Amino acid sequence: MQPGADLAGFRRAVRALVSARVPPEGVVWDADGSATLFGDGPADTGPPVSLPRRVAGLIEAVVCHRNPERYALLYDLVWRTIQGERELLAVASDPLVHRLALLRKAIARDLHKMHAFLRFRRIERPEGGERFVAWFEPDHFIVEAAAPFFVERFRAMRWTILTPAGSLDWDGEHLVVGPPGDHGPAPACDDFEVGWQAYYESTFNPARLNTTAMRAEMPKKYWHNMPETAAIPLLVRSARARLDGMLDKDAAVPLKRDPAKAVAAMADQAPTSLEALNRIIAGSHPMVSGGQRAVLGEGPVGAAIAFVGEQPGDQEDIVGRPFVGPAGQMLDRALQQAGIDRSRSYFTNAVKHFKFEPRGKRRIHQSPTAGEVKHYRWWLIKEIELARPAVVVALGATAVLALTGRSTPIARARGKAAFECGPGFVTVHPAYLLRLPDETARQAAYTAFLSDLRQVRDMAANRANAA
Ligand code: URA
Repeated sequence: MQPGADLAGFRRAVRALVSARVPPEGVVWDADGSATLFGDGPADTGPPVSLPRRVAGLIEAVVCHRNPERYALLYDLVWRTIQGERELLAVASDPLVHRLALLRKAIARDLHKMHAFLRFRRIERPEGGERFVAWFEPDHFIVEAAAPFFVERFRAMRWTILTPAGSLDWDGEHLVVGPPGDHGPAPACDDFEVGWQAYYESTFNPARLNTTAMRAEMPKKYWHNMPETAAIPLLVRSARARLDGMLDKDAAVPLKRDPAKAVAAMADQAPTSLEALNRIIAGSHPMVSGGQRAVLGEGPVGAAIAFVGEQPGDQEDIVGRPFVGPAGQMLDRALQQAGIDRSRSYFTNAVKHFKFEPRGKRRIHQSPTAGEVKHYRWWLIKEIELARPAVVVALGATAVLALTGRSTPIARARGKAAFECGPGFVTVHPAYLLRLPDETARQAAYTAFLSDLRQVRDMAANRANAA
């Protein structure tokens, strides 16, 4: 067989061996896997061997592996399959199946690296026009297996990929698989390089620096062919200083992905005032679909009571203030009746953006998922810590989840509570009262809600007296 991944050669050999009824122990495969007992034997020495699709797929992948035992292992698999073990691959504990699975995994990983880390450089062709050339060093014989990805992605370009194990050449219509290449024809640098570096530097977030994860995902051996990696050592060295700079500015930190978590990563440099935290929240992208702006908490620091709702609604998103829509108005009425001064209380939400689905001109409220609530949680806990209310009131189940990290039905949690951020109280969300269809039930629920608010008022008064 040929060096590398010779699927056709292996198939020919298998046909011959199976037709001659040679068991695995009767075959000697060359140690380097480049030839078999049969050398360049006749092309059709036996009829095709019918194998389950899963087996055929595994063979296709594993012949790409560099391990010299791969052909022997694969022939073992073929032999056992045709002897009746047609579901052999389902037996993950079988030592042969286990070894083959590891080989296949290595191939999948190598393909992923080639797809992700190969970089083309542009060269001018002497006859005019441009060509893109890349040099890559895969661990296994995966060049042909990787080709469909590049043809699909870069169909309109003319390109060549050179590797020590073979090359690919695409002229816009035809793919030619060629012999191994060397680094020579791939230019070390081009005008795209500067662009790649600038792009990478602009996407690098020092608050998310994790060099271990970075090396695991993008091993150092690929760096020398990737223009953007030239910036990594400097970016890593300067990360701390850049992070400090971002915090000093204390403003719209560019935390586009997973912002609350990224802020949490900076916990040792966490904002020390509500204003600083609010600037970070306001500068971050929503983690729910919909709302354009963050609706921030509102009220005095050190308030007697902080009310935590679910998320801003349509009106709140428009006005930019919490609890100003129908549920807010219902809450205002109840607060008045319970003797709680809104202007001396603090109001905020578990989720800071309005999650909605557009339906015609209307924006339909969507409940945040538990995952979304947890994404926002660090901000809420930090906010309560900085706002320092005497009592925290969770309005509804989303607020309970955000304040405790656990989902608990309101019926079970209702009443006094000890949140990790301080003493609290759990009651229903005012929107729940609005949704009750039956007037009698609504009246009863409202009365119970008022009774809860009066308890909250007394709790806050007792804490103030005790202080
Ligand atoms: N519902 C909430 O949970 N919060 C608001 O700000 C408005 C309605």
